[in-house]
Amino acid sequence: MNKHLLSMHDVTAEDVVRILDTAESFREVGTRVIKKVPALRGRTVVNLFYESSTRTRISFELAAKRLSADVINFSTGGSSVSKGESLKDTALTLQAMGADAVVIRHSSSGSPYQLTKWVKASVLNAGDGTHEHPTQALLDLYTMREKLGRLEGLRVAIVGDVLHSRVARSLSFGLVKMGADVTLIGPPTLIPPDAPSWGVQVSYDVDGALPKLDVCYVLRVQRERQRLEYFPSVREYSRLFGLTRGRVGALPEGALIMHPGPMNRGVEIDSDVADLPQSVIEEQVTNGIAIRMSLLYLLLGGSGSEEASADA
Ligand code: CP
Repeated sequence: MNKHLLSMHDVTAEDVVRILDTAESFREVGTRVIKKVPALRGRTVVNLFYESSTRTRISFELAAKRLSADVINFSTGGSSVSKGESLKDTALTLQAMGADAVVIRHSSSGSPYQLTKWVKASVLNAGDGTHEHPTQALLDLYTMREKLGRLEGLRVAIVGDVLHSRVARSLSFGLVKMGADVTLIGPPTLIPPDAPSWGVQVSYDVDGALPKLDVCYVLRVQRERQRLEYFPSVREYSRLFGLTRGRVGALPEGALIMHPGPMNRGVEIDSDVADLPQSVIEEQVTNGIAIRMSLLYLLLGGSGSEEASADA
């Protein structure tokens, strides 16, 4: 394993299997009355969030605490960032305090990479701009493998605002690495021109794709990142590309509905579709804790699932 996790390109297919298997060992910890193991006792994990987050921030915090690490949660409000302190000076301050791992979310693509130049700690990318969100991809791979028993050969459509989605990039890279068959679907304005070079297919036809899928992965429409009008109206987007009640019946029995959250209910996914039994959106969140435990454990020196089980 690399010292850092900045991108899904930092891990091999063997690393992915090891991360998922180690997460499997840790998942049981979350079912105990006392949800804690001593694996990272004495280590310090800093959560450095320059952009808002619910799932990723809380699950990294829970993961580190369940491993008995000391956890520092840093957000821009209430810190010296509001007085103009730079990312570099913030990083050097954390370094001086002895951080072993820094988890960073930032609106600028590449900021986790930049951080590795300034700190000795392992750096984990918790989402950087429109670039990547590798821990989300790993928890999604875990959820697909858990529910469908394999990754190789799975037919997965990633539907929606691919252009602005760091989740779509990381998940595509991860799925292709594991031998899945990936199709990106959305309006032509929201599909990146270089997408075919990711090893995926591109389509603009949701209805044609749904009957052949094992997984329909719906993306959030990221209005906050859209600098232009990429589609005429939310209503038209929903009619043409939303996973609506009328459309969802075309999925084969057993196919999964996934979404990274936060959802715009009624835009990219109908509210009652998000709550169907084949929707695994809440399981994705639960699995995120085990995946982040696995990553912190492996990056900070644990060797793999056997040792993780022993520690537990
Ligand atoms: N999926 C995801 O990254 O959610 P948050 O923005 O809530 O962390």
